[in-house]
Amino acid sequence: MITKPKGTMDVYGEDAKKREYVNEILRNVCSKYNYNYIETPIFEATELFHRGVGEATDIVNKETYTFKDRSDRSLTLRPEGTASVVRWFIENKLYGNITDPVKVFYNGKMYRYERPQAGRYREFTQFGVEFIGSNDILADIDVISLAYNTYNLLGLKDVTIVLNTIGDKESRANYRESLIKYFTPLISNLCEDCQKRLKTNPLRILDCKIDNETDILKNAPKTIDYLNKESKDRYNTIKEYLDLMDINYLEDYSLVRGLDYYDHTVFEIIADVPGLGNIALGGGGRYNDLIEKLGGPSIPAVGFAMGYDRTILAMDNSNVNLNLKEDIDIYVMYVSKTEKETASYLVQDLRLNGFITETDYFNKGLKGEFKAIDRLNPKYIIILNDQDLKTNKVTLKDNLTKEEQKIEINNLVDYLDTNL
Ligand code: HAM
Repeated sequence: MITKPKGTMDVYGEDAKKREYVNEILRNVCSKYNYNYIETPIFEATELFHRGVGEATDIVNKETYTFKDRSDRSLTLRPEGTASVVRWFIENKLYGNITDPVKVFYNGKMYRYERPQAGRYREFTQFGVEFIGSNDILADIDVISLAYNTYNLLGLKDVTIVLNTIGDKESRANYRESLIKYFTPLISNLCEDCQKRLKTNPLRILDCKIDNETDILKNAPKTIDYLNKESKDRYNTIKEYLDLMDINYLEDYSLVRGLDYYDHTVFEIIADVPGLGNIALGGGGRYNDLIEKLGGPSIPAVGFAMGYDRTILAMDNSNVNLNLKEDIDIYVMYVSKTEKETASYLVQDLRLNGFITETDYFNKGLKGEFKAIDRLNPKYIIILNDQDLKTNKVTLKDNLTKEEQKIEINNLVDYLDTNL
């Protein structure tokens, strides 16, 4: 038997319906915040992620699916969406005359070679937004509020925004120095990767999945103590705005995020999900240098991505009640050959007129059809009968009141339009 690859999932039935429901909410929120939908390729030039997300990150270093195509180009299945959106922005020269921000959202598959477990997959979906062109605090606030409100609209009321800043370039350089000073005498106690990270990017030691819980990491210098005045002021203003908007947040000065492109605001949305513990349902932040780093001009941006599958799992485990069951409108019953012929075009006609319509695909006969009706619970049943068909009529039964009437086929759609 061929089985699905480790860390992937099939989505069908109730789960597929749930996703349609979630998609609808996400699309609605984005339209109110005036974000436009974007699709980018699932694979990109490997270099995009190396330069964008960062060589020293786990995502690039350990988790990418990279392969050579038949022309020997190195390609990578996207591990995240931000680098691709920035590539699109630069490639299409959208920076030419940027008077309004470019605001896009995506909802697609991402790939990371991680150790699969509940809420962590190798193929997963991210819904994300990117707000390009403004360095104003309002843009950060817009993105954080969109994230916060989205989880609330999905029925997840107990999410916490964990907030921090990693400051501007100067502040990060100060912080980096302090980390090097702090970790150098202790580094032999940390994992091999951290020893390399000390040389490549000491910030990445802070989100090491192995040394994460050690006192060495817990006692490491905190970002807040190395911010210059401008970075500190900016951070304080962000907090003032969040207070104004009644958005609760928790500060965590050790939050640095696992991707290299951030500066200033960083945040995660954490929830305590029964069965999963404290888990990041999403994360984001400002990335003012990424566009320049990828070959465009210096243009500021901020964004956020939601772990879509984790969010659905959190909704399940938190017993968020979704009314997903959609009863069908009409079931068409037939027995004889001529009745079946009529059923064949009648069901198509009813569907094209907007009614969810089902019929019998197994020649079950009346008994089997009634059983199907019990399962599908249609609002109306159309009973075809050779006798009636001679006068172009059918029997229409209201499945709730059980009332029956004879009705001309030509009048069916009008009648159902008025009564359904
Ligand atoms: P990220 O924190 O790497 O950020 O991913 C965002 C979210 O995707 C995580 O919080 C998590 O919920 C979900 N996620 C990540 N890896 C997995 C996995 N293996 N299985 C299931 N869910 C996962 C980014 O990707 C940034 N691009 C976010 C961003 C957008 N920053 C600015 N703009």
